[in-house]
Amino acid sequence: MGGRERTDVVEVVRSQADLRAIVSDYLPLKKSSGSKYRALCPFHAEKTPSFYVDADKQLFYCFGCGTGGDVFKFLMLYEKLEFPEALKSLATRYGIPMPERSAPESGERHRVLSVNRRALSYFRDQLQRPAGDRALRYLEGRGITRETISRFQIGCALDGWSGLKESLASAGVAEDQAVLAGLLARKEETGRTYDRFRDRVIFPIVNLTDEPIGFGGRVIGSGEPKYLNSPETPAFSKGENLYGIGFAREAIRKEGYAVLVEGYMDVIALHQAGVAHAVATLGTGFTTGHVRLLKRFTDRVVVNFDPDAAGRAATRRSLEVLLENGFEVNVVALPAGKDPDLFVREEGAETYRRRLQSGLPYIEFLTRDTAGRHDLSGTRGKVAALNEILPFLARLDNPVRRAGYVEMIATILGIEDRLVLQELKDAVHDRRKGLKPATLSAARGASVVSEAESRLLRSMMDSEDVRRAVLDEMEDGDLEACRIADVLRVVRDLVVKGEEVTYPRVASMIGDDARDIITRVAALPHPPATLEEGRACLMALRAARLQRQMGDIQKRLESVGKAEETDDLLRLKIELKRRIEALPKASQLS
Ligand code: GTP
Ligand code: MN
Repeated sequence: MGGRERTDVVEVVRSQADLRAIVSDYLPLKKSSGSKYRALCPFHAEKTPSFYVDADKQLFYCFGCGTGGDVFKFLMLYEKLEFPEALKSLATRYGIPMPERSAPESGERHRVLSVNRRALSYFRDQLQRPAGDRALRYLEGRGITRETISRFQIGCALDGWSGLKESLASAGVAEDQAVLAGLLARKEETGRTYDRFRDRVIFPIVNLTDEPIGFGGRVIGSGEPKYLNSPETPAFSKGENLYGIGFAREAIRKEGYAVLVEGYMDVIALHQAGVAHAVATLGTGFTTGHVRLLKRFTDRVVVNFDPDAAGRAATRRSLEVLLENGFEVNVVALPAGKDPDLFVREEGAETYRRRLQSGLPYIEFLTRDTAGRHDLSGTRGKVAALNEILPFLARLDNPVRRAGYVEMIATILGIEDRLVLQELKDAVHDRRKGLKPATLSAARGASVVSEAESRLLRSMMDSEDVRRAVLDEMEDGDLEACRIADVLRVVRDLVVKGEEVTYPRVASMIGDDARDIITRVAALPHPPATLEEGRACLMALRAARLQRQMGDIQKRLESVGKAEETDDLLRLKIELKRRIEALPKASQLS
């Protein structure tokens, strides 16, 4: 259920939301012509405005980067929201009630979150009680303010085996649910459950939609393990979440990059100091799941792991994942023994920000680091160092950027540019061989629509007369192998049902590919639709189809043996020829 209700809400929101008003909240729109407004495109860098909003059609389009769509798409792109989030935000804005849960949530995930919410308030509560005094003093000792405690919803687990267990039980939470959430652990032998987090400061891990998906617990003082995280649960996956992302998203957008640090305490200390674009992985390496999350906000990262860490294998792999996914990665090293938490407390936010500014591009950092570990006085050492660096350089997906580093590497290692370049070519070649076909075909997406299709669609959308005339003349076959077929079918259905045909209405009834086509088509400037144009385009499509059929028949004629079959084909050919000749002359053109 819920599905139908949701469709209704989408329609209501679509009919009430005003794209021009929404976009105006983010960009200064200038009136252009007719119902069109324009601005500098927020989705790519440009100096003259090529981003248009068409208030009538309720569509936007950028002629510079080709981005376009409806009001939902705009919010999704600008605010980095998923569709349900964009829907919710618009519904709230226009006071349209949403059905209870718009996306049917997985039962288990839902239950884990509900247990987590209870646990969250339990942990927070403990920190305010006399028994939580030790944890509170520990946090204060680390310079964390009350305000930060409350903002990050920090809490604590007391020293004991059943504090949370009893609290959950008295709230009626089934033991199995608490185990599923990873908050209680179960002893194999006896089957008895007990609190997983004991005598720890608790850092709730909150996702982009403010759900407490898991917890990290730090021992108070010293002890092992220093940090304990929630296990993987239906609501929590370490490889797909970053600590602090919800607090950092806005700052990341403003600053244009994210600061990647190692620990909970680093994130908290930096945010408290006003460096709000910091996030941390949850004690794991950087994964493609993290990439997906971060890509929603930026593709630039300044990595600030502990100084020796950048050389460690695990760290290198994290950085590789970033590089391979097109991130621009700078590396900042702090003085030995200082993590961001300590550094920012001792030196202040301004000094820390200067460090961030003076980070080195990863390749340069790596080259210097590698150079330091090899004896560069002889050829052997130089070659060894170069071989360590090349695989990383080859991973950069931008050849211009790759070439840009050649000189730097040559200079640092004391090798001729030419040699580095040659070695690099080989390394890139080796890497290409290993690439999966999927990567190579990624550029396919953009669908090509012929001029005739594009003009036909536009004139049909713009004029009811054209619509009727063309639909009358249209044969089923005309839509064969036609990129706009999906759109035309929707238009036809609406006309048949006697419903209104508007861009937003049609856009709401088609798939993503077709919607991309219609936005692009709608955005192109064009003269008013005429019947002649509509008909001519339809005839052009038909001519193209008949010519294709003619080609097929010709091929079959050349390969068949039996006489009767040849006769049939010849008859078909004559019929086709007659039809092609009967087409109006103009349609032979496009
Ligand atoms: P503090 O001593 O509290 O300042 O820790 P830190 O933030 O400086 O952490 P550290 O550099 O020791 O570790 C960085 C991150 O690695 C932590 O925030 C945790 O996410 C993770 N981590 C560290 N120690 C452990 C551990 O014993 N177990 C697990 N699972 N993760 C750990
Ligand atoms: Mn630390």
